[in-house]
Amino acid sequence: MWIVAMISRKGGAGKTSLAVHLGACAEGQGLATGIVDLDPQGTATKWGLRRAQNGARTGAEVVSALPASLPKLLTTARKSGAQLMLLDTAPHADSLAVDAARAADFILIPCRPAIADIEAMEASADIARLAKRPFAVVLNAIGAQGSREAEARQELHRLGLELAPVALGHRVAYGDAMIPGEGVTEHRPGSTAATELHALFEWMCQKLEGSIGRPVEKSMDRKVAQ
Ligand SMILES: Nc1ncnc2c1ncn2[C@@H]1O[C@H](COP(=O)(O)OP(=O)(O)O)[C@@H](O)[C@H]1O
Ligand SMILES: [Mg+2]
Repeated sequence: MWIVAMISRKGGAGKTSLAVHLGACAEGQGLATGIVDLDPQGTATKWGLRRAQNGARTGAEVVSALPASLPKLLTTARKSGAQLMLLDTAPHADSLAVDAARAADFILIPCRPAIADIEAMEASADIARLAKRPFAVVLNAIGAQGSREAEARQELHRLGLELAPVALGHRVAYGDAMIPGEGVTEHRPGSTAATELHALFEWMCQKLEGSIGRPVEKSMDRKVAQ
């Protein structure tokens, strides 16, 4: 079972968005996926409730949990055949974020291409370093115009941080999909948002397959990226 934690000291960076959109995408690709909401704000949990009401969607179930119960919850998930668990965390709870990071095989740190977000990046990276887990920064909500992405990439590169090769654009589809408790790949299949999210998911799978192998046999059924 793969465990991926979304970590960032910055609120609004895109942790919950990454968790739910990657979770829905993973389900669509045949991975039995769960999302653990460790943020008391409960944004992912509310998305999960809307998803449960939306009869058309299954999988990517969200469980709200206190960090102390995370190890037991992950053990139960593993036994019940989960292949991917995505951990959504709160921005400010330092030691709790380290606990979540420690439980993960890989950490994604979303970062908007704004100076305040980039300045907060070292603090977020420190959480992953403290937890001694591999991590990568995902540039999120990139504007259509301007050179912000290139500048942000340059700055993050200068800080010595690994960057996901796929960045996510600033697109209304991400927020729209969340209203009926869906991922962007379900809500707007074929859209630019769905295509880039899918590419990010495939890159994440390659990283995990390269470091710890496929989660369980069932993943062999996973549809391969086009
Ligand atoms: N790529 C994106 N394009 C447009 N809106 C986005 C994008 N990523 C996040 N958002 C929006 O930004 C807000 C904060 O994102 P969220 O994922 O909740 O951040 P966090 O969990 O890190 O606090 C939400 O309203 C979300 O819909
Ligand atoms: Mg959040």
